[in-house]
Amino acid sequence: MKHETCFKKSHPSAAVKRARNDSGNKVAVVLGAQWGDEGKGKVVDLLATESDVVCRCQGGNNAGHTVVVDEEEYDFHLLPSGIINTKCTSFIGNGVVIHLPGLFEEIDKNEKRGLKGWDKRLVISDRAHIVFDFHQAVDGLQEVQRQAQEGQNIGTTKKGIGPTYACKASRTGLRICDLMADFGEFSTRVKNLVLQYQSMYPALKVDVESELKKLKDYAERIRPLIRDGVYFMYDAIHGPPKKILVEGANAALLDIDFGTYPFVTSSNCTVGGVCTGLGIPPANIGEVYGVSKAYTTRVGIGAFPTEQLNAVGELLQTRGHEVGVTTGRKRRCALWFYVLDEIKVGVAYKINGKRVPYFPANMEVLQKVEVEYETFPGWKTDTSAVRKWSDLPPKAQNYIRFVENRIGVPIKWVGVGKSRECMIQMF
Ligand code: IMO
Ligand code: MG
Repeated sequence: MKHETCFKKSHPSAAVKRARNDSGNKVAVVLGAQWGDEGKGKVVDLLATESDVVCRCQGGNNAGHTVVVDEEEYDFHLLPSGIINTKCTSFIGNGVVIHLPGLFEEIDKNEKRGLKGWDKRLVISDRAHIVFDFHQAVDGLQEVQRQAQEGQNIGTTKKGIGPTYACKASRTGLRICDLMADFGEFSTRVKNLVLQYQSMYPALKVDVESELKKLKDYAERIRPLIRDGVYFMYDAIHGPPKKILVEGANAALLDIDFGTYPFVTSSNCTVGGVCTGLGIPPANIGEVYGVSKAYTTRVGIGAFPTEQLNAVGELLQTRGHEVGVTTGRKRRCALWFYVLDEIKVGVAYKINGKRVPYFPANMEVLQKVEVEYETFPGWKTDTSAVRKWSDLPPKAQNYIRFVENRIGVPIKWVGVGKSRECMIQMF
């Protein structure tokens, strides 16, 4: 009884009040819904114009995001695409893996195209893991080994992504905070890591002294950009009202848990990666935008049930300029495009003639699925100048509404071309 009285009389603490009334700013998220290269950069660019903070939460410079502004084409790999927006802060979170030479190469290249003042707008988490040159070399050696042992490799970007996340998971990785601390200690740990790798890959040659020397220089260049990433994010969420945007890299079907394993990348590219890669509570995740192309592409190896190994695939590849931004490889193409007489949409997979309500986990099974399609008439008109839904050909509208109904998610924008203004806003 006494306890109850006491409970009734007590006032909620400041922390409880905060939790009830102010859970903080919400974070909008843009993710790839296919196998990458869906045009995430363009959607991020659109939303970044009204954002205060744009964050990367996973992946590394395996990503390649193109943003076209005033006919100038910027390519981003590690930098959030929001970096071109002079009003927003770009944040590279703890879930990202950073190859410092790659980061500076990217900065130099984009500076030549007109990027200015990036160093006033870029913040890097002290908890992000470092990709070393030898991680990239190991990525290459593992691909050679896969090819020799299994007759095929993954077709990675050879940016060292897999080996770096493997080090992170096996707790041998080095983070930006280590590079910022005692350099002697950092060097010892790097050398030990090299020895571990050389015991696994005797062919691996590493000039560790020269790599360390370069890193020492980079360390000083990035030092002013480094923050405690967890506190940075906490402050962004709980400080004054702010628009925060997360730019996903890679895509759902390349997610290490939900993608076409083992032909995937090494991070969680679906929404969970936003929470763990930045330190954001699930309750602060606001709108999540999945980006898809009207047809599908895939770079590298792996099951791709709707792939068009024919004239249609070639047409999509050339008309869509489907070449990887990161590796320059031709992208594999699956359906569809406006020049076609008819457009087919894959709506279900069948195994032994029976529809399966799920996406098969096993690659050999996925290689063999039969695809069930629905066919739509093509609109065969150029839509790149269209800016209003009502100006789209009815056949195109019909196709878009069908997709919307099937996926059960409202479509917010329809992209009709490369540059910033080539967008139809639906609501
Ligand atoms: P964006 O962000 C397309 C693919 C690679 C390879 C597999 C594993 O530009 O959409 P990795 O180097 O990550 O270990 O390679 O994942 N891949 C991508 N394909 N777009 C991407 O990113 C990709 N990131 C990784 O081609 O098949
Ligand atoms: Mg890309």
